[in-house]
Amino acid sequence: MTNPESKPVLTTRQGHPVHNNAQQRTVGTRGPATLENYQFLEKIAHFDRERVPERVVHARGFVAHGEFEAYGTIGEEPAAVYTRAKLFQIKGERTPVSVRFSTVIGGRDSSEAARDPRGFAVKFRTADGNWDLVGNNLPVFFIRDAIKFPDVIHSLKPDPITFKQEPNRIFDFMAGTPESMHMLTWLFSPRGIPANYRTQDGFGVNTYRMVNAAGEAVLVKYHWKSQQGIESMTEEQAAVVQGQGLGHATQDAYDAIERGDFPKWELHVQIMSDDEHPELDFDPLDDTKTWPEDVFPLRAVGMMTLNQNVSSFFNENEQLAFGTGVLVDGLDFSDDKMLIGRTFSYSDTQRYRIGPNYLQLPVNAPRPGVKVATNQEGGPMSFAVDNRGASPHINFEPSSVAGLATADDSYQEYRPFVSGQIVKAPIARQNNYAQAGERFRTMPQWERDDLVANMINLLGQCDKHIQEKMIWHFTQCDEAYGKRVADGLGLTV
Ligand code: HEM
Repeated sequence: MTNPESKPVLTTRQGHPVHNNAQQRTVGTRGPATLENYQFLEKIAHFDRERVPERVVHARGFVAHGEFEAYGTIGEEPAAVYTRAKLFQIKGERTPVSVRFSTVIGGRDSSEAARDPRGFAVKFRTADGNWDLVGNNLPVFFIRDAIKFPDVIHSLKPDPITFKQEPNRIFDFMAGTPESMHMLTWLFSPRGIPANYRTQDGFGVNTYRMVNAAGEAVLVKYHWKSQQGIESMTEEQAAVVQGQGLGHATQDAYDAIERGDFPKWELHVQIMSDDEHPELDFDPLDDTKTWPEDVFPLRAVGMMTLNQNVSSFFNENEQLAFGTGVLVDGLDFSDDKMLIGRTFSYSDTQRYRIGPNYLQLPVNAPRPGVKVATNQEGGPMSFAVDNRGASPHINFEPSSVAGLATADDSYQEYRPFVSGQIVKAPIARQNNYAQAGERFRTMPQWERDDLVANMINLLGQCDKHIQEKMIWHFTQCDEAYGKRVADGLGLTV
C-alpha cells in the first residue's frame, strides 16, 4: 500500500493500515465517540503504558556503545598469570561494550549538574557471555554493609513529606555513620560535580577476585582512567550550567560521539594476594577504603572506546540492566559484604522494573553467537524460547530422552575456604577517619577550600547537635578540617 507522499504507510501493531490518524470515530462531527474505536483505543492504551518505573537510584543516565581492546597483559605480566578470563588474554582482542553513565539521587529528568556520585557501569559482551562492571566515578562508598543501603539512599533522597532534599536529613544519617567520612570528603569537594561524563574516572569500588587457570585467586580493584583528563565544577559553575539546561553531560557525550571525537578510558587493576592482610590498617574488603597505589600499583589491562550513540533511548538506556553478579569465568566475587548485597539487589529490581524476561531483550542478552540454552519458561512478555537441544518437549534436566546437559568438569569453580561463627557484627579494622584525613590533606588547595565552603554552607542549614557531631568527625579525620568547618559555623571544636 502506498500514499501520495511515497512514505511508508502508517499501520497499527497488528499490521493494519491507518487511514485517519487525526480524528476518532464519532457520531457526527461533534461526537459522542464510539466504543469500537479500536485504532484510537490501542494508540492511547499504548501511550498510557509508555514508561516502566524509573530506576530507584541512578534514574538519569546516558548510554553509548563501543569496544574494549585488551593489552593481553596486566601491567608487565601476561594476563593469564592472574586470570583465565578470555577477554583479557590476547593483545588486540576487542570486546563490544555498552556503558551507562548516570547520576544517583535525582529522577529521570533531573539535573546532570547536581552534586552526586556518577554511575559508571560497563557491560562487556564477551565470548563467554556478559560481564558487568558496575562502578562509580568516586573510588569509595558511604557504607560498608549492604543492609544500610536503603537508609543512606533515603537520607539523600527528598524528604518523604516536603519532597525536598534536606541537608539536615543527609547529615543526620551521616553523623551516625562514621564510615561515610571518606566518601563525604570526596563528594563535597569539586569531584562531586564532574564537569562532564567524559572528564571523570571510574572505579569498581568493591573488591573482586581474579582466578587463573590453576585455580589461584587474587583480590582486585578496578579503575577506569579518563583519557580526556579530569574536570570538575564548583557549586557556582554548576549553577550556571544548570541554569542553561538539565542535560549538559548527556549532550556533551552525545555530541562528542556524533562528531567522531570518541572518548576513551584505560582499564587498570590493583592486585592483592587473597587473604586478610593483617599488616594493613584497613580491611581489603572494605569499600570505604582505597588501596594505596604506592603499595598496590595500577596495572593497565586495556582501553575502552565509546564510538556509537544509541538508536533508542528507551530500548537501550531505560531497559539496559546491569548487575554485580554478571561475571564470566576467571572473574569472581569477593566476600565484600556490600558486593553480596548488591548482587541480590540489581537483578531483583530489574525483574520488578522491566520484567522477569528482561534478559531476553537484545540490549541485555549476550552477544550473537553466545548460545543461551535454558529450561526457563513463560512469564510476562516472553517472546522466544531458549535453545532446548534436540527436543522442544524437554524443558527439564536430567532427561534420558533429549534436553540439555550441564557443562563438563573442566570448568573449575573457585572454591574459597571459609570458617567462622555466624554473627551480625561490624568488621574489626574500621579505621573510619585516616584515609578521609589523608584525602583532605592531599587534595589541591582550591578543592580543599571548596570542600570546606560546601560543608559550612550545608551544615549551616542543619540542627546544632548535627553540626557538632559532624565537626567532631571531621576533627578525627584532620584537625584543620574540623577547625575550618567549626570556624565557618561559629562553633568551637
Ligand atoms: C549495597 C549497596 C548497593 C545496593 C543495594 C545498590 C542497588 C542498586 C539498585 C537497586 C540499582 C538500580 C538498578 C536498576 O534499576 O537497573 C542500582 C544502580 C546502580 N548502582 Fe547500586 N547499589 C549499591 C551500591 C552501589 C555501589 C557501591 C556502586 C558503585 C560502585 C553502585 C553503582 C550503581 C550504578 C552505576 C547503578 C546504575 C546502573 C545503570 O546504569 O543501570 N551501587 N544500585
